[in-house]
Amino acid sequence: MEVGVFIPIGNNGWLISSTSPQYKPSFDLNRQVVQTAERHGLDFVLSMIKLRGFGGPTEFWDHNLDSLTLMAGLAAVTSRIRLFATVPTLAVPPAIAARMAVTIDSISQGRFGLNVITGWQRPEYSQMGIWPGDHYFGRRYDYASEYVRVMRELWETGVSDFRGEFFQMEDCRLSPRPSVPMKLICAGQSAAGMAFTAEWADYNFCLGIGFNTPTACAPTIARMQEAAAKTGRAISCFVLLMVITGETDAEAHAKWEHYRGGADLEAVSWMMDQAAADTRPNADTNVRQLTEADRAFNFNMGALVGSYATVAGMLDEMDAIPGLGGVMLTFDEFISGTDIFGTCIQPLMQSRRHIQPFAEAAE
Ligand SMILES: Cc1cc2nc3c(=O)[nH]c(=O)nc-3n(C[C@H](O)[C@H](O)[C@H](O)COP(=O)(O)O)c2cc1C
Repeated sequence: MEVGVFIPIGNNGWLISSTSPQYKPSFDLNRQVVQTAERHGLDFVLSMIKLRGFGGPTEFWDHNLDSLTLMAGLAAVTSRIRLFATVPTLAVPPAIAARMAVTIDSISQGRFGLNVITGWQRPEYSQMGIWPGDHYFGRRYDYASEYVRVMRELWETGVSDFRGEFFQMEDCRLSPRPSVPMKLICAGQSAAGMAFTAEWADYNFCLGIGFNTPTACAPTIARMQEAAAKTGRAISCFVLLMVITGETDAEAHAKWEHYRGGADLEAVSWMMDQAAADTRPNADTNVRQLTEADRAFNFNMGALVGSYATVAGMLDEMDAIPGLGGVMLTFDEFISGTDIFGTCIQPLMQSRRHIQPFAEAAE
């Protein structure tokens, strides 16, 4: 399986807690995480885009860098790891996103791809006067389909005359074109999001589920594979997981409980309200997962909590899931977390036996 890191572009990573490590995002922090991941032979890193934080005493995600420009910088200080940035389709016109992607393709020499998101938090966009209205919840993937069509035309032919409902191009030009076919991620998990992924993307990312239940995501991946069968395109699925580890299971569980005890309930409550904002009766969006109070302090993200051997064993268990391309990890502390993964967990994984650390490989 492939392994990536969801790098900490926002403060405090993905733990909404006052007792977890408190830190602000910076280029230097993310550079160290990504260079550590590269040194251990990890496959990719992805940064999200988040334009409005959740507040509360921890000021959760009130501090966030921009995804595309961060990845451009990281492309210049790495040489092997693949890099993905997230484009907020409501905020960046597709011809500009296509050109930014080509620029990072050039900096990274073909190691770059884009995560296309439609946006599920109204305040991120209404604060700038660009939220189209709540009817957008039901049209998000129609909009995104036109958006990607414009980008693909520009990347593949250098010109777009696309005339759609949302975008109208008139002899729109792009040159240079990417050095390799541009890879796209979509993390949609609604039926519309998966149909979009099946038609336009290469990878689907999903929010892992549960506590030490590594294969609980299998039905979501099966749903994505069913959608992909309809378009005949191969879509590889990746699962987002949080790893909390230690020398022993007891040490790891104690950390988890410590973070849970410090949950920032004000920020959690803001997030839960946002996740419930799409009130369409048939809305099947998975952001509803975030409204489950019990583990909202870690985004209700699938958690693997245990000793190095326990975590390695759970990751190996996932390797058998049909359609799984790999996992994307978050940690409580990212530099040490990535290093511990590479030093202590990865060498115990059957599914990562083929990986040679960068330094060794280069000798
Ligand atoms: C790994 C992963 C990364 C995501 N990155 C972002 C992001 O950067 N910005 C954002 O607004 N939403 C992000 N999302 C949310 C998804 O784009 C998507 O809207 C969400 O999973 C709900 O699915 P749906 O849109 O099909 O309802 C992410 C989700 C996952 C699982």
